[in-house]
Amino acid sequence: MSVLIRSIGVHVPQRRMTNDELGAMVDTNDAWIREHTGIGARHIAADGMLTSDLAADAAKKALQKAGISPKELDFILVATATPDYFGFPSTACIVQDKIGAHGCAAFDIAAGCTGFIYGLDIASGMLEARKGRHALVIGAEILSRVTDWSDRSTCVLFGDGAGAVVLSRIEESGRGVLKTILGADGGGAKDLVLIQPERSRTFEVASVTGKSLTLSMNGRNVYTFAVKSITVLVERILHSTMYHLEDFAWIVPHQANARIVQAAAKRLGIPEARFYMNMEEYANTSAASIPLALAEMEDKGILKRGDLIMMLGFGAGLTYGASVVRW
Ligand code: UT7
Repeated sequence: MSVLIRSIGVHVPQRRMTNDELGAMVDTNDAWIREHTGIGARHIAADGMLTSDLAADAAKKALQKAGISPKELDFILVATATPDYFGFPSTACIVQDKIGAHGCAAFDIAAGCTGFIYGLDIASGMLEARKGRHALVIGAEILSRVTDWSDRSTCVLFGDGAGAVVLSRIEESGRGVLKTILGADGGGAKDLVLIQPERSRTFEVASVTGKSLTLSMNGRNVYTFAVKSITVLVERILHSTMYHLEDFAWIVPHQANARIVQAAAKRLGIPEARFYMNMEEYANTSAASIPLALAEMEDKGILKRGDLIMMLGFGAGLTYGASVVRW
């Protein structure tokens, strides 16, 4: 028995914002952004669009490709840091309604940019334990709504998008999700934060409600954590499985910053070309970045049935995780 990634669907907002456009808003330029991050553009959700809209569109495409009706789903899991509502209702419940999957379970998880890897592990575990058939795991973000557009150290990094996968439990073994490592270092929680109204006071003195959410980051600390996470995760995966590096067709990292991936590749002595990167077009779309990369690889025909791939996530929490999948 195993849990297979059966299909992928994505939603990339039409509006494409180039580095030059950002250069007209803050003191930055295309050369700096490309050299320090490898990012060339990002896509921005239109006014009125919600994370659930992006997620639902990606989900419908994934279901159509898999040939599965929404009614056959056991549950929907949405990994997001930018839900439609903070707290409740979950974005997954809104997606459930938008795609007509009434009745199945629906819930969100918060694991920052590692959300898709956490989601895959939770969902495959649930399908196996409960003998379920099909589930949707969606990474969806509208980070542009929480970006401080006057802060050049963060506004150049992020973008919007959604990627959904249909997971199916199959009797055949040796395919699908084979191995997962998840971890977190809560000591770094303040290094990447959505600043929110004061939560440690009683309602009587909480006069700051209504203040909008803004992303705040200690870039240096997150950079160091990210390079270390990739390095340690690859070593741990190789150590804990019978696989050698040569067995992997691709390593698909969270698409935060090309320099992070290059530094980790150098430390590991792995050619950079083994890592698939597409942050040049989409920037960092957090929980959506890995499924967006997988979908693009499939479209290009460079991800084939039987390929062994390693996915690596790291991000707010601070969280990290790796997943080995036989496509
Ligand atoms: O999912 C995880 C999400 N987070 C990340 O992936 C972020 C991880 N961190 C990073 O990727 C990098 O730390 C950054 C890209 C955020 C920053 O790159 P850096 O090479 O570490 O730059 P720095 O912070 O050391 O800053 C170097 C200089 C500073 O100027 P001074 O103080 O030397 O005069 C910054 O003010 O670059 C300046 N700077 C910029 N200049 C032009 C920072 N951002 C920009 C910018 N354009 N956008």
